Amino acid sequence: MAKQHITATINGEEAEYLCEPQETLLDALRDQIGLTGTKEGCSSGDCGACSVMLDGRLVCSCLVLGAEAEGKTVETIEGMANGEDLHPLQQTFLEEAALQCGYCTPGVLIAAKALLDINKNPTETEVRYWLAGNLCRCTGYDKIVRAVMSTAADMRGA
Ligand code: FES
Ligand code: FES
Repeated sequence: MAKQHITATINGEEAEYLCEPQETLLDALRDQIGLTGTKEGCSSGDCGACSVMLDGRLVCSCLVLGAEAEGKTVETIEGMANGEDLHPLQQTFLEEAALQCGYCTPGVLIAAKALLDINKNPTETEVRYWLAGNLCRCTGYDKIVRAVMSTAADMRGA
C-alpha cells in the first residue's frame, strides 16, 4: 500500500514524514523523524514508555497510527527542555536520582509534566494514580513519586 504523507507540528516545528498506513506514531517518530527519546516497551499500551502528547492529550504512541498525527501537534521528550535549560522535572529527576536504567524515564517525564500542567499541587496518591500507566522495572517508584512531588512544590514556590 502507498505510504502516506503526513504533516504535523512536532515539538513546535513543522515536520513531514512518509509512513505506512499501519505504522504507529511511535515508529514514525523513531524511524522517520529520528526522535528516539520516545521508547518502545510493550507495544500494547501497557508500559507507558512511548508516552507523548498529541494535541495536548497524553497518549501511548504505540497505540496511535502515524497517520493520525496529520495536522496535529506532537510533543516528545526531545521538546521538553528549553534549549540547554532542562525542564524542572528533568532537573529534579537528575538531582534526586529518580531513575536507574532510564528506559522508562522519557515516558514518565512526559506523563508527569502532563499532570503538573493541569494540577500544580497533586497529592502523593494522585501522582501514583496518574503514573500508574508508566511501568518502571528499576526504581521501585518511590524516587519517581518524590521527584514529581518536590518539583511540583518547587514550581509553586513552596
Ligand atoms: S510501548 Fe507503548 S505502552 Fe508500552
Ligand atoms: S529506570 Fe529503569 S525502567 Fe525505570
